[in-house]
Amino acid sequence: MSTRILTGITTTGTPHLGNYAGAIRPAIVASRESGADSFYFLADYHALIKCDDPVRIMRSRQEIAATWLAAGLDPERVTFYRQSDIPEIPELTWLLTCVAAKGLLNRAHAYKASVDKNLEQGEEPDAGITMGLYSYPVLMAADILMFNAKKIPVGRDQIQHVEMARDIAARFNHLFGNGKDFFVLPEALIEESVSTLPGLDGRKMSKSYDNTIPLYGTAKALKEAVARIVTDSRLPGEAKDPGASHLFTLYSAFANPGQTEAFRAELVDGLGWGEAKQRLFELLDGELGEGRERYQQLIARPDELEDILLAGAAKARKTATPFLDQLRQAVGLRSFKAQGPAASGEKKKAAKAARFVSFRDDDGSFRFRLLSADGEQLLLSRSFADGKAAGAVSKRLQQGDALDLRGEGNAFGLWLDGEEVATSPAFADAQARDNALEAVRQALQPAA
Ligand code: TRP
Repeated sequence: MSTRILTGITTTGTPHLGNYAGAIRPAIVASRESGADSFYFLADYHALIKCDDPVRIMRSRQEIAATWLAAGLDPERVTFYRQSDIPEIPELTWLLTCVAAKGLLNRAHAYKASVDKNLEQGEEPDAGITMGLYSYPVLMAADILMFNAKKIPVGRDQIQHVEMARDIAARFNHLFGNGKDFFVLPEALIEESVSTLPGLDGRKMSKSYDNTIPLYGTAKALKEAVARIVTDSRLPGEAKDPGASHLFTLYSAFANPGQTEAFRAELVDGLGWGEAKQRLFELLDGELGEGRERYQQLIARPDELEDILLAGAAKARKTATPFLDQLRQAVGLRSFKAQGPAASGEKKKAAKAARFVSFRDDDGSFRFRLLSADGEQLLLSRSFADGKAAGAVSKRLQQGDALDLRGEGNAFGLWLDGEEVATSPAFADAQARDNALEAVRQALQPAA
């Protein structure tokens, strides 16, 4: 059995080494496991919430797409697409918005943090807060539920959003599922073993600290960043403390255990920091060099990138289009054609339970029968000289015209305009007759 894994990457900024070690590399490894059915996508609608600079949005989408492919993501094996290429996602967002409790969204951390900041600064609570930010978790729920993903690898700050997706899914199932669950309830997957890399200054590597190491920049840029890693002031020949050195932590995030141990021993033996940085640069350059080349090729050919992503979207929509159709049906957004006249809800049920069958008798006259749902004869009409007359009567009966049923022993007759137009067979007893009478009433009663 395969497990559907899904995660989105918000397309703001350029991925750095910390993103690579913390998210990209583990996701690609997970996608190669047998039984993994991975959906990875560029959350570019989410990016619009944080950024109103079209050029940055555009560039970031390309860079992130190229980064994932260069890092080894196989678009044949996984479903890799842009959120904004799946029109079913914003449609589903609206269906979910209509069942999501406002109180639930009031509690979202990101929204609450913005409100708190406003209050601290003496502003109105909602100053500068868009509906995009407020509804962010509903869009994310649609991303997840659209594909009925089970496992959602995310950072800790996103756990609450996955829980909200569960809540919203459960509510939709309850309201519209009719005993069948449309949505699988998703679970956040937190990779404990995945490292958060330290940045140049030892704090968590993050763009907001301006302490990042570029991922697929030039070798020169990589070298320059490594040179800026902060170390203590011990001189060459002095013993270093690997446990206290984030340079060592960075090294071990990319080295195999043998390399790590050798590097540790050298540091303890007094390896100079300049030498140590050269070792780290060589290690990173070795790990990233190949990807860097692929990255440059992909960035140079945006048309190819576009085709890969459009193929991914087509693959994703094979699931999304029919599923959204089911969901639209479930909430009542149905074609008028398939449904028949709007007022005939009750009658439609009845018509399903019993049906008229017309036929030509041996003597050439026209008659019809009313059969119960399981094919038992309830009524047989009198003979009509022509098919039109027989049809007109059965049509009037179907419309619920003047239902006049009269018992005659263990049988009954049906009267229209003072004339008996059909009779039932003789039933075995009064009970069977009454059951049949009830079935006829059900079948022919006028719409409520
Ligand atoms: N909100 C996520 C983040 O900022 C990105 C994201 C959007 C996402 N939709 C998703 C993650 C669906 C997982 C599943 O990291």
